Order: sequence, then structure tokens, then C-alpha cells
Amino acid sequence: MNEAAASATRWQQLRSSSVGDAARLVWRKAVHRTVHMGRFGTPTSASTPPERPCELTIEVWGPDRFDDVLPNNPHLTVDDIEHFRRQQSRVIVITDGDRIPASSWMTNGSVYVHELQRHLEVPRTEHFSCRSYVDPDYAGRSLMSHMIHHYSTLQPDGDETWGLVYDWNVASVRSLERIGWRRSGDYWTSYWFGRKSGGERRYPPKPPTTI
Ligand SMILES: CC(C)(COP(=O)(O)OP(=O)(O)OC[C@H]1O[C@@H](n2cnc3c(N)ncnc32)[C@H](O)[C@@H]1OP(=O)(O)O)[C@@H](O)C(=O)NCCC(=O)NCCS
Repeated sequence: MNEAAASATRWQQLRSSSVGDAARLVWRKAVHRTVHMGRFGTPTSASTPPERPCELTIEVWGPDRFDDVLPNNPHLTVDDIEHFRRQQSRVIVITDGDRIPASSWMTNGSVYVHELQRHLEVPRTEHFSCRSYVDPDYAGRSLMSHMIHHYSTLQPDGDETWGLVYDWNVASVRSLERIGWRRSGDYWTSYWFGRKSGGERRYPPKPPTTI
């Protein structure tokens, strides 16, 4: 959505809401809001395979095939692909004949996290997971878990795979907890009158909450 359309939508939202709702909307949009995500991860050597077997083919592709994934993942933009090319990145894909029903990215270096609107520095021994997607036709087969576990088995012992997940994304949290990922931190970006500030907190891995 362009800025003019977004602004019209915000105005329509304001007009159709009650005074209390409008005040809350203004507070959230113009005064203060925080985007908050949980850090989940595991040492690569501790990744555990999903219970269900995967009947489809899993491959890890380099930059020469990044463009093939773009039309098959609605959560991916041309900008993402450019970022991935500049970083040390790989894409894990599941293929079914000519189809690419699932894909998931791993990257490191100076990683731009769209959700937090800021960069994170991810060392070479860490693999930052993002933009995982499974076509709804293929849901219920643990494909996200399979892709990430498969990738982890190919990395050196001592490395870590991790990523950031919204609390409401139960399917993701469950897919990750099923292969041994645990929550070990929080990342957030707060906005006060349009001014952005980021923070993070790390703690020992917590017990799973979805399995
Ligand atoms: C998240 C996503 C990749 C998972 O796809 P998937 O691998 O097909 O996941 P599954 O359908 O096998 O579900 C995994 C588990 O979560 C459970 N689950 C799925 N949706 C759920 C929901 N809305 N609430 C609670 N549990 C849910 C499933 O029952 C399954 O549990 P099980 O292992 O006990 O059977 C997929 O839903 C997706 O593409 N979402 C949109 C993009 C996204 O959120 N990406 C991840 C960003 S971190």
C-alpha cells in the first residue's frame, strides 16, 4: 500500500471508530507503540528431527536460484532478495515436481529485520532464520520444521540457528519447539512520537509452551 492509500485507510479507520477507539488509535499510531518478538533458537547439534517423515524433496539453494523462490513465497519482496544477496544467505526449499510449496531463509551478517525496522548483527557462526512460508495446500506436514532441521544438520557443530517470532504465531512457535528450539530472549522496537528505539534481553532457554 502506498503512503496516500495508507493515510486514507487510517482516516477511514478514525472516522468509523468511537471517540475512545480513535484516541487509542492515535495513541498507538502517533504517540507510542512497541513491536515485540521472541528469540527462539538451538545449537545446530541439538536440532531434533520432526516426528512425521517428509515425503517431499528438501534442497538448500544459493544466490543463483533466489529469484526462483520469489513468485512462490507471498511474504518475500524484491528488496528481501537484494538483502539476502548482499548477506551470506541460503534458501531452504521443498519441491514437489515443478512446485516450490515451502521455503525458508537463513542468513547472517548485518541483517535487516523488517518487523523491528532495524539491523541486527548476526555472527558467521549463527544462522538467522526468517521468511519461512508453507503454502496452505501443504499445511499439517511439519514442512517448516523439516526445512529448518534439515539445514541445521548441514551446519558445523557449535553453530546456532535462531530467529524471531511474534507471540501470536503459534504455528511457528510450535514448529520450532518441536525441533528443539527454545525461547532465550526478547527483541523489541518502541516508537515514541515517531522516534524509534530498540532493545533486547537474553535469558537461559525457557521450557516449551506449545508442546
Ligand atoms: C508458520 C508456517 C510456516 C508453518 O507451516 P507448517 O510447517 O505447514 O506448519 P504445520 O501446519 O505443520 O503446523 C505446525 C504445528 O502447529 C500447529 N498449528 C498450526 N496452526 C496453528 C494455530 N493457528 N494455532 C495453534 N496451533 C497451530 C499444527 O497443528 C502443528 O502442530 P503438530 O505438530 O502438533 O501437528 C505456516 O503456517 C506459514 O507459512 N505461515 C505464514 C508465514 C509465517 O508466519 N511464517 C513464519 C514466520 S516466523
